[in-house]
Amino acid sequence: MSTTAGHIEVAAGALVLLIGAAGSGKSTFAARHFAPGDVISSDQLRALIGKSESDQRANNEVFDRLQTLVRKRLVAGALTVVDATNTDWMRRAELIAMARRYHRPVLGIVFDLPLDICLSRIAGRLRTVRAAVVRQQVGDIHRDRERLDLEGFAAIYALGSTNQVEHVILEIKKGPVARALSS
Ligand SMILES: Nc1ncnc2c1ncn2[C@@H]1O[C@H](COP(=O)(O)OP(=O)(O)OP(=O)(O)O)[C@@H](O)[C@H]1O
Ligand SMILES: [Mg+2]
Repeated sequence: MSTTAGHIEVAAGALVLLIGAAGSGKSTFAARHFAPGDVISSDQLRALIGKSESDQRANNEVFDRLQTLVRKRLVAGALTVVDATNTDWMRRAELIAMARRYHRPVLGIVFDLPLDICLSRIAGRLRTVRAAVVRQQVGDIHRDRERLDLEGFAAIYALGSTNQVEHVILEIKKGPVARALSS
């Protein structure tokens, strides 16, 4: 995997994929570093479409809806953060291909944290996820570490410890796209 992150630079019109197992802290990170309106969350869509945030049955429909929302924002040149596990390379590939179609850079922020941290955090929150599912997701991330470099990301930032997640500085750049929208 590419850069170990201390400083993450995000272009204004970029597509940002948060990549990490359940409980790795993606939504917490998104809330801390991005405006709520820039974040598209698979769990929120699942709650809208399915019965609850943890309803996995509506997965395909959730991903379709997520893609539609991402496409609209990419067309408008708006910064878009996808808060989903993104551990399935085929789903990543679809999102990356879409961003490239609209000439938007894609950044990956990988939450490469140990399984026991993810599990203990999940145990401490209301919404639970089965341990076997989390184990599989952590395994997928480990397995895909090398291939992520080949998937077409403009940059990949790997956060390999809670300390790194805590101390990373994230800067959103004002680019030509953002200026065009706000003028
Ligand atoms: N840096 C952190 N330090 C301590 N606790 C954290 C940190 N980040 C997240 N948590 C806690 O861990 C739990 C899981 O975090 P969060 O819900 O952000 O994970 P997630 O990656 O979005 O999971 P999911 O994929 O299931 O949505 C939450 O209870 C959150 O408060
Ligand atoms: Mg979340």
